[in-house]
Amino acid sequence: MIDGADALQHVDRLQTEAIAAIESARTSAELERARVTFLGRKSRLTDILRSVPTLAVDQRAAVGQRANDAKRVVEARLAERQRTLAAIPVRPTMDLTLPGSAIPIGRLHPITQTIETIRSLFVTMGFEIADGPEVEFEYYNFDALNIPREHPSRESFDTFFVEGPSPEPKKGRLVLRSHTSPVQIRVMEQRQPPLAVIVPGKVYRPDPLDPSHSFMFHQVEGLFVDGRTSFADLKGVLDHFLKALFGEQTRTRFRPHFFPFTEPSAEVDIACAACEGAGCSTCGRKGWLEIMGCGMVHPNVFKAVGYDPKRVQGFAFGMGVERIAMLQHGIVDIRLFFENDLRFLAQF
Ligand code: DAH
Repeated sequence: MIDGADALQHVDRLQTEAIAAIESARTSAELERARVTFLGRKSRLTDILRSVPTLAVDQRAAVGQRANDAKRVVEARLAERQRTLAAIPVRPTMDLTLPGSAIPIGRLHPITQTIETIRSLFVTMGFEIADGPEVEFEYYNFDALNIPREHPSRESFDTFFVEGPSPEPKKGRLVLRSHTSPVQIRVMEQRQPPLAVIVPGKVYRPDPLDPSHSFMFHQVEGLFVDGRTSFADLKGVLDHFLKALFGEQTRTRFRPHFFPFTEPSAEVDIACAACEGAGCSTCGRKGWLEIMGCGMVHPNVFKAVGYDPKRVQGFAFGMGVERIAMLQHGIVDIRLFFENDLRFLAQF
């Protein structure tokens, strides 16, 4: 038999515990847990209420009354706490009004961008892209291009020679290619005309670094061969290219020049955009800027690749990419391209 006095004390304790649990609940889930613990069907308060009929008759009313009061008090506290919790704004786990954390996006190097522009202009005209090795045999870099043994460009101060024996002595020593022209030979050895290719790539020359020289730079070579192409085609293609690159108003001029691998040969100039031909510091008072070399492929070059110079003709050209990029962007020092300074590179 349960003692009524014990039961009353027990109810008091339960009420105190319940209120403490309710007040410390931080979320409605915690609050619900407290409700189940103290008022649920298996709670001790419910047990006590159920046991009232087993108490001594004179104690039933007091215990029943007390237990019911406790239940009402706890219920009231629960409801109140529920309202309080509902009024607390849920702390957002992220603040959508904050600026996002930017993911840095890379970009192409300005030289790569200029190569891409040149490449797409020629691809539009039907040229294909070709490439060849940067470590090249003397044969391709010089001999097959009709550059004689005694030519000054073959001196060690004009070309990097690779030390050690050549893997193919018949093709001469290894060099770092000093221009992209050797790829003309490699393409023609592999294929028959008609062909139209451009060759973007790195070239190397042992020049000391200064505002207009670097030991490594880029060129784009061009080669067009078929049965009847003429110097007029060469002029048309390059004039169109330079107008597309520098603007429709660009004037071009073909100035006679000498290259061993073309005959006739020319250097192509564009009228200086800064002074419109009048002469200024950008063009060295000449009014014209030298942009590229070109010419009709020399018969000896065709002979070197086994083409019959009586049956095919073609034109070739070569340009320096850094020079073009410098003119496009008004950059006056070639070394900026290669110093990897993001303050410079991120501007393009
Ligand atoms: N290879 C020459 C150089 O590096 C540029 C050049 C001139 C290429 C005339 C050509 C050409 O294909 O026809 O200076």
